[in-house]
Amino acid sequence: MDQNPNRYTITAALPYTNGPVHIGHLAGVYVPADIYARFQRLQNKDVAFICGSDEHGVPITIKAKKEGITPQQVVDKYHRIIKESFEEFGISFDNYSRTSAEIHHKTASEFFKKLYEAGKFTEEVTEQLYDEEANQFLADRYITGTCPKCGNEEAYGDQCEKCGTSLNATDLINPKSAISGNVPILKETKHWFLPLNEYEDFLKQWILVDHKKDWKTNVYGQCKSWIDDGLRPRAVTRDLDWGIPVPVSGADGKVLYVWFDAPIGYISSTKEWATREGKNWEDYWKNDTTKMLHFIGKDNIVFHCIIFPSMLKAEGSYILPENVPANEFLNLEGNKISTSKNWAVWLHEYLKDFPNQQDVLRYTLTANAPETKDNDFTWADFQARNNSELVAIFGNFINRVVVLTHKYYDGIVPKPAAFSEIDKQTLTEVKAYPSVIASSIERYRFREAQSEMMNLARLGNKYLADEEPWKTFKTDKDRTQTVMYVALQIASALAVLSEPFLPFTSTTLKNMLNVWSSAVETSLGWNDISLKTELLKPGHKINKAELLFSKIEDEQIQAQLDKLQASKKMNEIVNKKVEPQKETIQFDDFMKLDMRVGTIIEAEKMPKADKLLVLKVDTGIDVRTIVSGIAQSFNAEEIIGKKVTVLVNLAPRKLRGVESQGMILMTENAEGKLVFMNPDTDGVENGATIN
Ligand code: 2FM
Ligand code: ZN
Repeated sequence: MDQNPNRYTITAALPYTNGPVHIGHLAGVYVPADIYARFQRLQNKDVAFICGSDEHGVPITIKAKKEGITPQQVVDKYHRIIKESFEEFGISFDNYSRTSAEIHHKTASEFFKKLYEAGKFTEEVTEQLYDEEANQFLADRYITGTCPKCGNEEAYGDQCEKCGTSLNATDLINPKSAISGNVPILKETKHWFLPLNEYEDFLKQWILVDHKKDWKTNVYGQCKSWIDDGLRPRAVTRDLDWGIPVPVSGADGKVLYVWFDAPIGYISSTKEWATREGKNWEDYWKNDTTKMLHFIGKDNIVFHCIIFPSMLKAEGSYILPENVPANEFLNLEGNKISTSKNWAVWLHEYLKDFPNQQDVLRYTLTANAPETKDNDFTWADFQARNNSELVAIFGNFINRVVVLTHKYYDGIVPKPAAFSEIDKQTLTEVKAYPSVIASSIERYRFREAQSEMMNLARLGNKYLADEEPWKTFKTDKDRTQTVMYVALQIASALAVLSEPFLPFTSTTLKNMLNVWSSAVETSLGWNDISLKTELLKPGHKINKAELLFSKIEDEQIQAQLDKLQASKKMNEIVNKKVEPQKETIQFDDFMKLDMRVGTIIEAEKMPKADKLLVLKVDTGIDVRTIVSGIAQSFNAEEIIGKKVTVLVNLAPRKLRGVESQGMILMTENAEGKLVFMNPDTDGVENGATIN
């Protein structure tokens, strides 16, 4: 096998195709993974950056039920939207596959069969939760209940998203079917289990000893706590009709657990890519000179650090990830991003509102990346990052350099005269940036890396502001030439070093500076910034200035905030707690109610009763006494003369010794105060019937 220490297999979590992708996905997984992959390519590393759609599992079937379409229609729809969003945001996957692809079904089935035949699974008949109304076993997200570890009442059957614990459905306290809301029964069924307990020693050594120092503390900490708690066998099959059929006999109606097949999706996507590119996929998965990295969100840690590695270990011929740089979560304007509550910034919608401004979002998300703790995205910060950093520093510097080069020298890089101390110091500082940024990226500190890249733009901006070539142009032409020459060197360093973070900007800038023209000596690489004495030679012609960033106005930000407010309002309406509808009645039942328009003509408090008023009501039929429990909402005096709706044929009953001969219909307002159900009384006489 080819020994190549420069080979990288970089995977990014396969997104579920039950909805589009939002900023949380981008910030947590795909932008950091893309920065890393682009950076390694710029180091001339052999990179396979792999992803694809996760198209199995319960979330897909739930979505299909909700939308009244088939699971296949759901995955086709969202696969297309998600793939397009990734392309639009410059996520530079070498391959984006999908788990419904034939190659994946084959790869996952063979993987299962190999483990099955090698006796790596235990086969057990156990009691599993079953919804009698839906006639279905309840696995994973079909079941919710209270997490036995942290008390979260909305934990799923396979995982609690609040504390990250991986669960078996039967662990849940007060389980409830997500299909019918019913309490499930227990029913026997056969499944195959991966005995994770047998991999404890391996995991202890591999994570807790070998990777103690180089894994992020959040990842290491979670793994340690699971391993310390003791691992239990984990079912890798499910009773479902959507997924990859269990490829052994006696498994009708059973499919592979989505978390068994999804990570194998990384392998099948690599195979698909290798076939297309004429490569050997095994070099990227089975060669221990290859570095494998899984970029994921924190809710995926257990699957990538415990379950998948145990599967790979059981299979025996695969390498294990060198690192799993998982991020925490991104919140939006102080609240958890939620697909169901539409509390999100969807990528496809962002692009409609901010066309061609992908880099602004990438930049803001990296600047606030939830690398060590959950973080918040706010539209105000997005605007400030754009206006005060990208426009005012990066864009301003580049624009001045390019415009002045055209104004003074017709777009030709001038020849420098004598360098001042400041010039020399500045050029030396520029040379340090590639290794400073690289060191942060290699340690998965993308915020820090990007902020260093921005410091380079700051250096350029300050250099120009201090040296004022527009002033010296009138008095000292030599000095202007030198300053412009130095500024152009900084600009070209920026064109290369910004590529991992701002790929669209970097391309425009490289075009402007003409640094990848056919002339070989002008095409620049990452390490040239430190190694070459000059990046742009005198005499090199640059192209015209193009706008890199433009100001984002307050109205644009307000429109986004309004959109979120609208979602909030909509949620309040949808989630308002109302009494459930009562049992259906027949028309005849309704017709038995005799409701009339009436007027309260007298009212007084019932002695020694806080809640009761004794009313005299003109019902049109008669004037009668009605005792009503409204004293805490009204004074007797204020309701005299009020038109009301009265149920007149309710059997009389005695309240505190007074016979009540009917009922006044009331409701409650948002503050819990009672209000009368007034008929629209204009021109309506007492005694008029209501039906
Ligand atoms: O959490 C998720 O969105 C999963 N679909 C991630 C799967 S990652 C991999 F293992 F496929
Ligand atoms: Zn929990």
